[in-house]
Amino acid sequence: MASKEEKALSFIPIILILLLVSSASAATAGQEAEAEALLNWKANLDNSTSLSLLPSWVGNSICNWEGIACNNFGSITQINLTASGLRGTLHALSFSSFPSLMSLNLSHNAIFGTIPLEIGFLKRLQILDLAGNNINGSIPHEVGMLGNLTILSLQQNNLSGNLPAEICMLNSLSVINVAFNSLMGSIPEAIGNLSSLTVLALQLNNFSGAIPSTIGNLSSLKEMYLMGNQLIGNIPPEIGKLKFLTHLGLVDNKLNGSLPSGLNNFTFLKQLFLSNNNFSGSIPHDICISGVLELFTAHNNQLTGPMPRSLRNCTSLVRLRLERNQLTANIAQEFGIYPKLIYVDLSYNRFYGELSENWERCQNLQSLRLGNNRIFGEIPWFEGSIQLHVLDLSSNNLTGTIPKELGKLTSLFNLNLGDNKLSGSVPSEIGLLTNLQHLNLAANDFSGLIPEKLDGCRELLNLNLSRNKFSESIPLQMASINALQVLDLSQNSLMSEIPPQLGNLMKLETLNLSHNKLSGSIPSTFDNMLSLTVVDMSYNHLEGPLPNNKAFHKALALAFANNTGLCGNATGLNVCPSETIGEKKSSKSVIFTVLLILGILLFVFVVTGILCVVCYPRKVQNEDQFAIWSYDGRLEYEDIIEATEGFNSKYCVGVGGRQCKCL
Ligand SMILES: *[C@@H]1O[C@H](CO)[C@@H](O)[C@H](O)[C@H]1NC(C)=O
Ligand SMILES: *[C@@H]1O[C@H](CO)[C@@H](O)[C@H](O)[C@H]1NC(C)=O
Ligand SMILES: *[C@@H]1O[C@H](CO)[C@@H](O)[C@H](O)[C@H]1NC(C)=O
Ligand SMILES: *[C@@H]1O[C@H](CO)[C@@H](O)[C@H](O)[C@H]1NC(C)=O
Ligand SMILES: *[C@@H]1O[C@H](CO)[C@@H](O)[C@H](O)[C@H]1NC(C)=O
Ligand SMILES: *[C@@H]1O[C@H](CO)[C@@H](O)[C@H](O)[C@H]1NC(C)=O
Ligand SMILES: *[C@@H]1O[C@H](CO)[C@@H](O)[C@H](O)[C@H]1NC(C)=O
Ligand SMILES: *[C@@H]1O[C@H](CO)[C@@H](O)[C@H](O)[C@H]1NC(C)=O
Ligand SMILES: *[C@@H]1O[C@H](CO)[C@@H](O)[C@H](O)[C@H]1NC(C)=O
Ligand SMILES: *[C@@H]1O[C@H](CO)[C@@H](O)[C@H](O)[C@H]1NC(C)=O
Ligand SMILES: *[C@@H]1O[C@H](CO)[C@@H](O)[C@H](O)[C@H]1NC(C)=O
Ligand SMILES: *[C@@H]1O[C@H](CO)[C@@H](O)[C@H](O)[C@H]1NC(C)=O
Repeated sequence: MASKEEKALSFIPIILILLLVSSASAATAGQEAEAEALLNWKANLDNSTSLSLLPSWVGNSICNWEGIACNNFGSITQINLTASGLRGTLHALSFSSFPSLMSLNLSHNAIFGTIPLEIGFLKRLQILDLAGNNINGSIPHEVGMLGNLTILSLQQNNLSGNLPAEICMLNSLSVINVAFNSLMGSIPEAIGNLSSLTVLALQLNNFSGAIPSTIGNLSSLKEMYLMGNQLIGNIPPEIGKLKFLTHLGLVDNKLNGSLPSGLNNFTFLKQLFLSNNNFSGSIPHDICISGVLELFTAHNNQLTGPMPRSLRNCTSLVRLRLERNQLTANIAQEFGIYPKLIYVDLSYNRFYGELSENWERCQNLQSLRLGNNRIFGEIPWFEGSIQLHVLDLSSNNLTGTIPKELGKLTSLFNLNLGDNKLSGSVPSEIGLLTNLQHLNLAANDFSGLIPEKLDGCRELLNLNLSRNKFSESIPLQMASINALQVLDLSQNSLMSEIPPQLGNLMKLETLNLSHNKLSGSIPSTFDNMLSLTVVDMSYNHLEGPLPNNKAFHKALALAFANNTGLCGNATGLNVCPSETIGEKKSSKSVIFTVLLILGILLFVFVVTGILCVVCYPRKVQNEDQFAIWSYDGRLEYEDIIEATEGFNSKYCVGVGGRQCKCL
């Protein structure tokens, strides 16, 4: 212990010498000025939101104040007050009082107003971080006086005006981040002077003009983000000189021309974003030359030609989006196996050939979208891709049946096989897809029954089976897919009556049963479908009154056209004869009496064991039809169900296609 104290004592002369050298009196004067400057700023900050704003900022020992660091002479070198709830301007902060300040980090506060020109006094400043405030006005030219600045971080403010060219004289600058402001004008040519720059983040502003060719001189650049501006013209070929580039983002601009061969030069390229521009020509072959490319998006351009060769071996790939171009390639040959691939979208191109089994071996694949191409052949089992959430093979030329093995892809959330040439019956294994929310099998040649097991898809929101050859009746199991919002069974050969149970689909908004051979009346259980807004019942053999549901009352005449005898209160339909009779008789007491009699009769029949539920084909009953509905069309049926605790469902289940009547 004693030896430690001795060591400590031996430092005293050194400290004394230091104090002498730095001239103690001057240092204290400096510290006082710094303390005063900070306290003055504190007093000008809005203290109404926090009870104790910067509570440690009292007295004279500034070096112990929150967010403050000093050098050996007690002069402030750092002011770090990130996310401290500061609300106020920078104008009450006397920058000239901080000759030693190296880091000013006030990010993520509520600072507003402009950046004072006096910022230029901070000659030793290395880090200026004002990100995530409400600062407006332009970036002062005086920032160009901060000769030691390495990090300029002004993103997420409300800055306007140009990027001052003076910034381009700051030789030490490593990071420029001014993203997410309202800056405009062109990117200064002189930017190329910044040979130490590693990050240039100008995204989400209003920069216009061309990308200057001088960017080729940014020999240390690793990341360049220019997305979300108004940039025009080509990518300058000089970009190929940026041999350390790892991230390049040019999305959402108005860039055009072909992609320069310089894009082949990036040995370290991990992320390349070119989407939503007007690029044409083909994709350079070597963009994944060293096999480190992870994210590549170039969707919504005019790209043509084949897939880049290097992509076939690009096992680092995680995300690939090339949809909405005019790429042409045999899809069976151009893609390899990507163990890390999660998301791939190649839709709306001109890919042809068969679906390679390679896709099945991408074990992390969650989303495979290949719609609107010219892919033919059969659907593979996707054995290894058990993580698939989205499988979209729509609008291709696929043939054969749906492999029942798809039922193993239990993570599937969206299965779209619409608009192909698939045929056969739909395997009931589809019902094993318990997470499925969107199932589209429309516009194929599917035939046979709609599988009853579809009710296993409990989460289904959207079911489209239209434009196929499904026959026989609509399975009443469908009524248990409670989440269903859109049901389209149109343009099939479905027969028999609409199962009344469908009225249980309380979330259904759109129901299209048009162009089938459905008969009987539209079940009055549809009265209760409160979410229903769009219906189409046209081109069937339906008859009788419409349900009392606003979707039916408001529908256009087209929704009911070409049926046998629908009637009711809707455009283009005749008023039901029953309604006229109803008006004469319809007093509540009459209804009540009749119901009472019916109830008594039913009770008597049940007691005597001769429950008389007669089921007969609806067709036969044509003339009689309105008589049954006579004393109020709809109320009668509903009330009987209620009065007899749902006698309908208890006694008449399974007689699909027939109308039950209690005598
Ligand atoms: C806020 O500051 C004003 C003036 O600087 C002062 O009078 C007031 O007491 C302060 N309020 C709180 C809550 O500190
Ligand atoms: C201030 O921030 C810099 C850079 O972020 C950091 O190195 C330093 O430790 C911080 N100082 C204080 C006092 O918070
Ligand atoms: C500013 O401080 C925050 C919080 O400590 C830190 O995350 C950020 O990197 C700092 N800014 C710079 C440029 O160092
Ligand atoms: C900055 O915003 C303030 C309101 O916070 C406004 O009064 C001022 O005019 C703005 N200045 C500029 C240059 O936009
Ligand atoms: C940068 O800092 C050094 C001391 O670290 C100083 O001598 C030099 O003048 C500064 N550069 C500028 C341009 O202010
Ligand atoms: C940014 O400034 C503009 C005017 O220059 C103003 O309309 C807008 O509300 C400001 N945005 C924010 C987030 O302060
Ligand atoms: C900075 O860039 C401009 C334009 O590119 C050039 O004319 C000038 O010589 C450069 N200055 C330095 C110091 O490199
Ligand atoms: C690509 O790199 C090679 C060799 O490093 C170099 O000769 C060529 O100029 C570069 N291409 C471009 C467009 O800069
Ligand atoms: C892909 O890798 C294989 C084997 O590693 C190699 O033979 C082939 O040349 C590579 N293809 C391309 C286009 O790089
Ligand atoms: C689909 O295949 C048929 C022949 O099987 C062919 O005639 C047709 O052009 C193909 N359609 C497309 C879009 O490739
Ligand atoms: C029913 O369809 C036939 C042919 O499909 C058509 O000629 C007729 O006009 C349609 N009738 C009505 C009422 O729409
Ligand atoms: C017919 O429907 C309209 C609108 O849905 C309604 O205003 C009107 O009262 C109804 N008429 C009859 C006779 O129910």
